[in-house]
Amino acid sequence: MNNVVDKEELNWRLRVFDSLSYPTLIIRPDYTLVSANRKFLELFEEDQERIRNQKCYHFFYKKNTPCRAEDCPVVRVLNTHQGQTVTWRKEGRWEDRVFSPILDDNGEVVYIIESIRDVTRVKMLESELSETKELITRVVQSSASAIVAADRKGRIQLMNRAAKELFGVVNKECWPFDNAEQLYPPGKAKEIMSMLRDETMGGKGKLSGVPATIVSADGEEIPVEMSAAIIYDDDDNESATMAIYNDQRKKREIEKKLKDAQQQLAQSEKMASLGQLAAGVAHEINNPLTGILMYSSMVLEHLETGNPLRKDLECVIEDANRCKEIVKSLLVYSRSTDSRRQIIHINKLVEQSFRLTRDQKIFRNISIHKELDDEMMLINVDTNKLSQVIINLIINAADAMGGRGELIVRTYRNKSAQKVFLEIADTGPGIAEENLNKIFDPFFSTKPKGKSTGLGLSIAYGIVEEHGGRISVKQTGPEGTTFLLELPQYIPAES
Ligand SMILES: Nc1ncnc2c1ncn2[C@@H]1O[C@H](COP(=O)(O)OP(=O)(O)OP(=O)(O)O)[C@@H](O)[C@H]1O
Ligand SMILES: [Mg+2]
Repeated sequence: MNNVVDKEELNWRLRVFDSLSYPTLIIRPDYTLVSANRKFLELFEEDQERIRNQKCYHFFYKKNTPCRAEDCPVVRVLNTHQGQTVTWRKEGRWEDRVFSPILDDNGEVVYIIESIRDVTRVKMLESELSETKELITRVVQSSASAIVAADRKGRIQLMNRAAKELFGVVNKECWPFDNAEQLYPPGKAKEIMSMLRDETMGGKGKLSGVPATIVSADGEEIPVEMSAAIIYDDDDNESATMAIYNDQRKKREIEKKLKDAQQQLAQSEKMASLGQLAAGVAHEINNPLTGILMYSSMVLEHLETGNPLRKDLECVIEDANRCKEIVKSLLVYSRSTDSRRQIIHINKLVEQSFRLTRDQKIFRNISIHKELDDEMMLINVDTNKLSQVIINLIINAADAMGGRGELIVRTYRNKSAQKVFLEIADTGPGIAEENLNKIFDPFFSTKPKGKSTGLGLSIAYGIVEEHGGRISVKQTGPEGTTFLLELPQYIPAES
């Protein structure tokens, strides 16, 4: 009865063994092949009888001695009593060979089952995948746009080369960012995430070309154009985020230059037409004024001392003289006066101008700092006119500070651009934003009427233009104002 069961069971086991879909072989610990299943025989085009009792090393390698442990998984199974898997390539195919020990009650190996799996497809897919991955990595790395990806918790997982440059981490010894939040000014990352989740802003999980600010490793705030996306897994859960940044600094710089140039152009057009107008008016007024002065002086001469009309007439003459001064200034502004040029070091001109400042009282409570560069800074200018410019800038500065503060006069040059610079900085209250584009207009003044004509800066503008230079407000704010004068450097011909 037992024999029947045993035999039945044996048959059953053999059938199972035979129907295994992987080619499988049973080996004894002495390397003798016991049996191979149908798939194995098909694969090797063998029959059971020929295989049986062959040594495995002979069957596979036509050798007469067992292989070395380092080459042979069977030997290793015998040594370790553990299963072994090896993958190898055979005639263009990839195989996984799995060697499993069958142990007896004492833990000794009684059989080794070797089963062969064709993993060519898996290997091909793996290699395709790794090629695709490599291609994606190369595309991402070589992109001119900065690309950053972070996981669900905001931990940065990827930063391509452009991003490393943009965020200034290229030569950093230690990695400065723990979390993507640190890539933005405080609180901004959260705002970006809620914009990303907002379906009305470019679709769920997407942002396209929005302006943003990022913070580099050195703390610099950089304007960028940002496109971002949330990456969802198959169950629609957020699994990562990625963002692409394009640096806007160059664009902003160009836009600013363009705007400045447009403003300058508008300013010089305005000044040119105002200049023509001023010249016309000055000429027209000059002759009647001369008449008024001449006749009133003649009348004054004929009036005996003590005549009450003398005082009135003196007022007429004084005001007429004041008008003459204004006319003269207007003519300078409109460049209708002669120019006598002379080569002079800008520092010398500055010193002369300070000496010429008539009302020295106004400087009593002002500390004056002169930072005069001692480079060769010659200019070829009408020294009288240029002094007038400098004096007006100094007096304006003193007026702005109400006679109390700090005045800094700085000279320097740009050798390659062949330009000489003069800066006059004060610690006054600054120029109001709405007045900034009016200060060079003739008669624009915020000072009490009668004290000022508002011609100082417009005259200065005309003079500096005449010398091929430029006058501008370099900086203004509650901490003070800096005027900048730019003049062409005089380069003596080499002898
Ligand atoms: N350093 C300065 N700080 C603040 N405001 C200034 C400064 N320089 C000039 N301004 C402003 O520009 C205006 C025009 O200056 P500008 O020199 O042309 O005329 P003014 O000083 O008012 O009169 P004038 O020079 O004829 O006596 C001033 O009234 C003042 O509002
Ligand atoms: Mg002035």
